[in-house]
Amino acid sequence: KIRDILAREILDSRGNPTVEAEVILKCGARGVASVPSGASTGAFEAVELRDGESRYMGMGVRGAVKAVRQIIAPGLKGMDASRQREIDQWMIAEDATANKSHLGANAILAVSLAVAKAAANGMKLPLYRYLGGCGARELPIPMMNVINGGRHADSSMNIQEFMIMPVGFMSFHERLEAGTRVFHTLKRILMAEHYTTSVGDEGGFAPAFERDEQALDFLIRAIEEAGYQPGRHFRIALDVAATEMYDAALREGKDGMYYFWKSGIYKTPEEMIAYLKELCDRYPIYSIEDGLAEEDWMHWEQLNRTLGSRVQLVGDDLFVTNTERIRKGIRQNAANAVLIKVNQIGTLTETLDAIRMTKENGWRAIISHRSGETEDTTIADLAVAVNAGQIKTGAPSRTDRVAKYNRLLRIEEEIW
Ligand code: PGA
Ligand code: ZN
Repeated sequence: KIRDILAREILDSRGNPTVEAEVILKCGARGVASVPSGASTGAFEAVELRDGESRYMGMGVRGAVKAVRQIIAPGLKGMDASRQREIDQWMIAEDATANKSHLGANAILAVSLAVAKAAANGMKLPLYRYLGGCGARELPIPMMNVINGGRHADSSMNIQEFMIMPVGFMSFHERLEAGTRVFHTLKRILMAEHYTTSVGDEGGFAPAFERDEQALDFLIRAIEEAGYQPGRHFRIALDVAATEMYDAALREGKDGMYYFWKSGIYKTPEEMIAYLKELCDRYPIYSIEDGLAEEDWMHWEQLNRTLGSRVQLVGDDLFVTNTERIRKGIRQNAANAVLIKVNQIGTLTETLDAIRMTKENGWRAIISHRSGETEDTTIADLAVAVNAGQIKTGAPSRTDRVAKYNRLLRIEEEIW
């Protein structure tokens, strides 16, 4: 039974405020959780409440903290913390908006996750076991974003994320070691060619390349020089974050096009698809996320017809972890995988529903961080709980990213 719920304003990895909630049960067990925050957010995401005004450049979350203290805490007191669905539904009903803009998705999610952690602690279970039961057993393949572009770095490439996937290894610790070896090798190569090796929001390097393909060439070189075979030990994943390109074109009055600002080129959706296909022909690409914009449903279908049989096509901004949009995507055959971000939808229950729908339809679910993160490691447990098989949580650099990898190392030790 919930005795009390506390909330406070803390900082995320970008130095912006975020909400932390602490749920205390009558038995004395506690659960603490904090909320991540995106930079290239989808238009259909649940809304994080920000104070505006002068504190923290308008980014303060005292309003969301107040919502937890004055509305959510009194409402949930006395409820059984293991009744996650009822608790989440109570918050959804109390908020009473489609995008959680009344109480704030940041207020609701902090409590939702802290409730689950408190319940797990109350039962003396690790979170992945509490959420996934005995079936939770698969450690994910990390998608490590080692070159950061787009909105996550000011260099900046058109494509937002260039990721390496250590696919040719049996255990998580071997995947992490191999990925980290490539990361360090990449740094050495970049330094040798006088590129900057400062890192972006997700811990990857942010060199001032002229063309996006250069990033791919450097990845291949780093994989080889680290002693691995591209295609066998490692494959590549991209997050194009094409909604950003679509919006950039729109701002220039070119509706329905994609703007590659670095090269000053506009592409039609058909040219985008041809370009992505060409990249897949030239490089060992396993996965492409948001290859097209969140509004461009019609061309997603065309992209899926062109590449879906050989490449994982992931909807992030397209689906925003929302079952209504995922259902539409499945009906239209628009992709074959869904990026899962807890704060896009705002409760744990709805997140688990989104994962279930995705998997039941034979699509893949990838558990993901945001570009703004905290030391909270819930997504590591979630990835194992649902046997997602893949997790996106940045480069092996910056403690906000590494915390998730370290949590997975500990889980692996417990499970195996
Ligand atoms: P965001 O980006 O967290 O800044 O939204 C991550 C992504 O697009 O996958
Ligand atoms: Zn994305």
